[in-house]
Amino acid sequence: MSASIIDGKKIAAEIKTEIKIQIEQLKSNGVVPGLAAVLVGDNPASHQYVNMKEKACQELGIYSEKIIKPANISQAELFELIDSLNRRSDIHGILVQSPLPAHIDEGKAILRISPEKDVDGFHPINQGLMIAGKPCYLPATPAGIVELLWRSGHKPSGKHVVILGRGYLVGKPLAALLANKWEKGNATVTVCHTGTLDIPYYTKQADILIAAIGKAGYVTSDMIKPGAVVIDVGTNSIADPTHPKGRRVVGDVDFENVKEVAGAITPVPGGVGPMTIAMLLTNTLKAAGKEIVYA
Ligand code: GUN
Repeated sequence: MSASIIDGKKIAAEIKTEIKIQIEQLKSNGVVPGLAAVLVGDNPASHQYVNMKEKACQELGIYSEKIIKPANISQAELFELIDSLNRRSDIHGILVQSPLPAHIDEGKAILRISPEKDVDGFHPINQGLMIAGKPCYLPATPAGIVELLWRSGHKPSGKHVVILGRGYLVGKPLAALLANKWEKGNATVTVCHTGTLDIPYYTKQADILIAAIGKAGYVTSDMIKPGAVVIDVGTNSIADPTHPKGRRVVGDVDFENVKEVAGAITPVPGGVGPMTIAMLLTNTLKAAGKEIVYA
């Protein structure tokens, strides 16, 4: 039996429709939501991600500003740029696209962003609030996965969720969100990583398996409990001579074989990716509406 496909593109489109209505309301009150995306260097994937974010902003009527800086920008110059964006009243959200060049301390760059404008949800203040289960900006990819599970009817409460990967963009925050006591969490969460001795031992016990390790086709059908929900966060570019560009993007899951064992599965592309963008837009809307109160 083949798994049902969790359509991230369709669910993200629903969210965007909801956001658009709220943006129009804000605009009728004289507020145009504004997002600044800072891109350092010429990493092609980063340029592609930022372009997709900008396009989504344009679709929804969010003012967006893409600021491209050369890879040799000094840390001090980048921090001055962040300071100037923090001061601007027409910019409600700031994102500094990761990865940054090695000479820039990414953690310090994130700290420099005002928590009120940290629509990526990476600032330690937002991360701390998230772990405490308080209102804050949730990081877009973990929030998108939580929303994808919720809206596709795969509620995590009481389930065993196994996450592959403990990175700060996905695995670590996602573990907190899904374990927290709230309607969209309340799961039993296991995090597997490079120090885990027998990863299949854990994945075979997962009611919901989330792969975020960045290894093409890593999760194979023998690692899955029959009927499990499989969420694929991977975006790996692999060589494919049959493809017009000579390459194509695949996930961390061996989709063709795993879909024969799983109960539900996200495709790549068209699964988690569109949800990440929808959640960034949600955060930008929240920032423009000053919905999160820190004081
Ligand atoms: N690089 C990969 N994903 C992200 C993201 O969600 N935000 C930022 N700023 N950089 C990224």
